[in-house]
Parts: sequence; structure tokens; C-alpha cells
Amino acid sequence: MIQKDFSIGIFDSGVGGTSIWKEINHLLPLESTLYLSDSKHAPYGTKSKEEIIALAIKNTEYLLNRNCKIIVVACNTATTNAIAYLRKHYEVPFIGIEPAIKPAALQTKTNTIGILATKGTLNSGLFEKTSQKLDKEIKIVEQIGTGLVALIENGKLDSEEMTQLLQHYLMPMVSENIDCLVLGCTHYPYLIPQIRKIIGPKIHIIDSGQAVAKQTKKVLSEAGLLKTIQTKNKRSHQFLINRDKNTLTELLADCEKEKSLILLETDF
Ligand code: DGL
Repeated sequence: MIQKDFSIGIFDSGVGGTSIWKEINHLLPLESTLYLSDSKHAPYGTKSKEEIIALAIKNTEYLLNRNCKIIVVACNTATTNAIAYLRKHYEVPFIGIEPAIKPAALQTKTNTIGILATKGTLNSGLFEKTSQKLDKEIKIVEQIGTGLVALIENGKLDSEEMTQLLQHYLMPMVSENIDCLVLGCTHYPYLIPQIRKIIGPKIHIIDSGQAVAKQTKKVLSEAGLLKTIQTKNKRSHQFLINRDKNTLTELLADCEKEKSLILLETDF
């Protein structure tokens, strides 16, 4: 039986989903969380749909075996390729993340929006379906962010290589007159300071982190699984990673006041 005291389970192909964890922890401070960083298998974005589904099943079963009441797929690539399968085969509620092209389409004044995401997300059927629903007047400039996830996983967030790749991907979008840039990968919010330097102050940068946190709260509340009072079981936040934890430690450094963070290297 799923219980209110169970944790919120979250997984990503690596450390990027911690950008979603931060939003969830901010909105739901009474909840315990268990985060899986499947860095050993990153990037997911270059894998086939079948491989991504197999990895999503592995992560889901790991979380369910450790008492999770809901699973947040904090990865656009895994959501767009595997969430339909997961929802069909498991009873627990799943929250997914998709590139926020709908909100961008409502905001754009130039009728041109840019999206930076993985190959796996941009080529997925779900992304195609969502983009086809947009107003036909709106032009979507798609860019695959090849190499960005690997650089982030390897702690090269502020490297020269990163700056060059970002310039190479973003400058053509700026030339196309985009006024909204959608970040379609949960690793990319960590690149916002660098992206801002390249695209300047005027283009809106849109990601889906807050929307995912709000949806998680709504679904837990509707299922009667939302914690509203602190019980005697202390909340905890565990982060499991199947590679070295150096990058994860760096990305969570701004959460130092959280005494309850546990970071463990383990195989899964
Ligand atoms: N954070 C994942 C996403 O949102 C990265 C995918 C990958 O590993 O390529 O798509």
C-alpha cells in the first residue's frame, strides 16, 4: 500500500534533474525525496527509444523497491520516450517533464521560438505531437544540444569548450529572431548564466521546473498523498549516483543549509 510517509522518487539520466529536485523541495518542504542520478548511462539523448524505456524501467523499479509514492521523471528524454510505457505498466503516479513550447508559443511576439534539447527529445513522437498542436504561424527553431550533457556530467560547466558549443548552437537561433528560448533538457538550467551572456538580456529563457513541481503537488494532493504536517519520521533527501559524486556535490552546494542531504555512490 502506498503511504503518505513514503518519499517522492525522482530520476534523471544524470545530475541535471537536480534542477527539478530544487523546485520540488522548495514547493514541498515537508516531503522526503529519493533521487537517482543514472550518470553511468548518460547521455540518454543519443540512445534508441527501446534503450531509454529499459533504463526508465530499471530506475522505476529501483525507486519503487525503496518506498516511493510518486515518481518524477526529471528528464525530458525519458519522459518523451518512456512515460507512456511506465504509466501503462505501473500503478504509481508518474510526473513527466516536456519542453515548454506551449507557454513559449503564448509569449512570443516575433512568432519565432527556439528550443535546445537532446536528439532523443526532439525526435520523439510526443514532441512532434505537441509541436503540431501549436499555431501554424509560429516557427520553431530546433537545435540538438550534442555534447552539453556530457560536459555538465564531467563538471565542465564553465569551460571554454562549453562556451564554444553554446555559441555555436545559440547564435544561429538569435539570427533567426527568436524571442523565447525553451530549455528542453533538465541539465540546461545550470547553463543559464552562460546562455544569458551569449543571447543578451531580451530573449526569454523558459524551462519547465516550476511547472513540474506544481504538478507534483497537485497530483499528490488529489491522491491524498501530500504531507501537510511534519510527522515524527524526519524527512530525508537521498541522492544516489552510479558514478563519482563530484559534480553532484558541486551542483547541490547551494543547498548546504539543508542538513538532511545524503549523497551516496552506489551501483544500480
Ligand atoms: N536531463 C536529460 C533531459 O532532460 C538529459 C538527457 C540525456 O542524458 O541526454 O533530457
